[in-house]
Amino acid sequence: MKREEVKFEYDVFENSEELTESDAALMDAARKVTTKAYAPYSKFLVGAVAKLVNGETVSGTNQENASYPVGICAERVLLSAASMLYTDVAIDTIAITYHNLNGESSKPVSPCGMCRQALKEYEERTGQPIRLILAGMTGKVFIIERSTQLLPFSFGGADMK
Ligand code: THU
Repeated sequence: MKREEVKFEYDVFENSEELTESDAALMDAARKVTTKAYAPYSKFLVGAVAKLVNGETVSGTNQENASYPVGICAERVLLSAASMLYTDVAIDTIAITYHNLNGESSKPVSPCGMCRQALKEYEERTGQPIRLILAGMTGKVFIIERSTQLLPFSFGGADMK
């Protein structure tokens, strides 16, 4: 028997002023788009903005529904839009921010499990890692070099070959 280990490193910034100009701009864009979320049930507004390798940007916000499971997260709205508008163009970085109308929005949150799976498929399909910038409306910012680091032991198309 041998025991294996999975670990990953990520960068922690005290605030957006420590970011590069382009990362700060992407995060500001995500914070702006967060206000456009449709989240009347959870009051947890999420916004995501991607910078594609062709220089274009694509946004997404969470879209809820009175029938709760119908709702969709900001990240998957973004990935669907990117796939439709710029088919097969890789995503360089996605900034994801949130505004919790019922509480604090001062520390990063990370994508839910379903979104991690969707991000993995996008990475594999385009052959390029997706960087994530995670933040609230204020406070610390995390940068994760590739989204699949958040989903160790993941299942993918290769497993069905
Ligand atoms: N949500 C996202 O949009 N992205 C995430 O990664 C986590 C959760 C949304 C789903 C729902 O509309 C609200 O946040 C509360 O879960």
